[in-house]
Amino acid sequence: MAETNTNITPDFLPLNGTDHVEFYVGNAKQAAHFYKTAFGFQSTAYCGPETGVRDRVSYVLQQNKIRFVLTTPLNSKHEINQHLAKHGDGVKILALLVDDAYDAFEQTTKRGAKPYQEPKTHTDEFGTVKTSGIYTYGETVHLFVERKDYTGPFMPGFKKWESEYNPAPSNLLYVDHCVGNVGWNRMNEVVKWYEDVMGFRNILSFDDKQINTEYSALMSKVMSNGNGYVKFPINEPAEGKKKSQIEEYLDFYEDEGVQHVAIATTDIISTVRDLKSRGVEFLRTPSTYYQDLISRVGIIDEDLKPLEELGILVDRDDEGYLLQIFTKPLEDRPTLFFEIIQRKGAKSFGAGNFKALFESIEREQALRGNL
Ligand code: FE2
Repeated sequence: MAETNTNITPDFLPLNGTDHVEFYVGNAKQAAHFYKTAFGFQSTAYCGPETGVRDRVSYVLQQNKIRFVLTTPLNSKHEINQHLAKHGDGVKILALLVDDAYDAFEQTTKRGAKPYQEPKTHTDEFGTVKTSGIYTYGETVHLFVERKDYTGPFMPGFKKWESEYNPAPSNLLYVDHCVGNVGWNRMNEVVKWYEDVMGFRNILSFDDKQINTEYSALMSKVMSNGNGYVKFPINEPAEGKKKSQIEEYLDFYEDEGVQHVAIATTDIISTVRDLKSRGVEFLRTPSTYYQDLISRVGIIDEDLKPLEELGILVDRDDEGYLLQIFTKPLEDRPTLFFEIIQRKGAKSFGAGNFKALFESIEREQALRGNL
């Protein structure tokens, strides 16, 4: 079917992908060591007292197209302390790459976004970066970053971080999606916010009939921008016999926030084997999951043995299949975790695995006494 031009609305917020993810953490120096050692991130840039920033430090780590920023305040008066005291370590900023950070701010704030940072131009000897920001769910922020022609290591204010400790990368390629947990009856509000304020579309929905175990349930809607480069599934807890994992998150993060960052690889078996050898802990998958896997998902290229040995999950949709696995929480509070995902045609998110996955999460929840 041919579409006529009159049906095409121009995208008022064109996004070129995820620019970076910024975490507020209690000790950025140690967190940086962890992400280098455990996940193979590379030392990229730094700001702190040595670069003229007196009140905080930020370490920038990179692996292929993934950029993490780890930030810690340097005194008790800094406002970041309130964030840390309330939420613990977690994601503060999901930064999005745009062609025009000034226009992104104008387009979203005039549609109702709460401003976080007015548009700013930052210049140094490597060129110019422009940024602006808005709040999304909880205290989480979308920063719009425009970095055309900028050749520096990260942004003005940062210097190149040269380290003598450089563990090998682990084939982590790009951010596939970032999931938000929101409170009771909030999912549809947040979905509408992404539609109205950012021009996203709801591409998939799961209700509590589809995502439940004997004990707990949740609902989820996946929001995507126009070109599909940026996808934000939004989860809400649902009533079950016991506490939903989303509720446990909300209790411990003490707010809505980012539940997981999904990172793409092209060879999940070797990546997960590598990450495990570096000490990354993954959720365990019951061996029963593999008994009838092929009858559920059909023929796949991979041998079952390494998938079962590592606990990698498989799911299929109309366009292909995907392989995925979830880490345990990366902090002491049971809040943020990572997903490692390899897509072989599938564009979905592993709904067929929710039950197996949740039963695994619930075993961990029960160990913490939170089920
Ligand atoms: Fe995911």
